[in-house]
Amino acid sequence: MTAAAIPKRGAVVAIDGPAGTGKSSVTKRLAELLHFVHVDTGALYRSIALLCARLGLDREGYDEGLVTELARKAHLEFKRRSDLNPANRIFVNGEDVTELIRTPEISMGASKISAIPGVRAALLGLQRSLGCAGDSILEGRDIGTVVFPDADAKFFLTASVEERAKRRLSEMEAQGKDPPSYQEMKRQIAQRDKQDSEREIAPLRKANDAVEIDTSRLTLDEVVERMAGEIRTRLGR
Ligand code: DC
Repeated sequence: MTAAAIPKRGAVVAIDGPAGTGKSSVTKRLAELLHFVHVDTGALYRSIALLCARLGLDREGYDEGLVTELARKAHLEFKRRSDLNPANRIFVNGEDVTELIRTPEISMGASKISAIPGVRAALLGLQRSLGCAGDSILEGRDIGTVVFPDADAKFFLTASVEERAKRRLSEMEAQGKDPPSYQEMKRQIAQRDKQDSEREIAPLRKANDAVEIDTSRLTLDEVVERMAGEIRTRLGR
């Protein structure tokens, strides 16, 4: 199935970049500001990684056939729990796994299983149909290059590994999670970058026509403002 096979019902904004560049916070804010639907594609890969972990498939290296089968059969759905809590929740086979997929183990597992071609193929159609449903803003690693090469606006966010490690640590502290050391966090981020950018299929890379923004020295507000301006210019609305 190609992106063109599903008719787009609105504008599509693609936001790619490595972990810790502020992608999720920026995408959430932009979606609220512009009234676009936010699609967190990393949550799909994380959900499959969670299913794998529960079956113990992560212990001895992933069996590509089995993981692909799991990804094909999994029923993945984004839902809003209530008007009071409008944040996106993700359900796998009917179970709300929103919090369960936010652990360092699942981050690493998601990065590993996302290198399996069958898994990427299994999740592609869903990402395209979510993006085509209306005005949407998708965040991931290959949105501007593979999922929506014809997106109406594309961004590629970057930040230094040091800055990203600092941000992740304060995020974990704020959430009351037990954070690893700064050095360990830097090591995990660098390892995920390497895995995500060196895989053969749909590696993390900037699309030629994406606007690159280094967020290291910018506040969230500054990034959002710049991107919103760019999106409005591109869409002419
Ligand atoms: O954005 P995230 O950290 O939640 O993503 C988790 C992993 O999923 C990431 O390390 C690589 C993979 N991923 C991907 O390969 N393609 C995407 N579009 C989104 C995520």
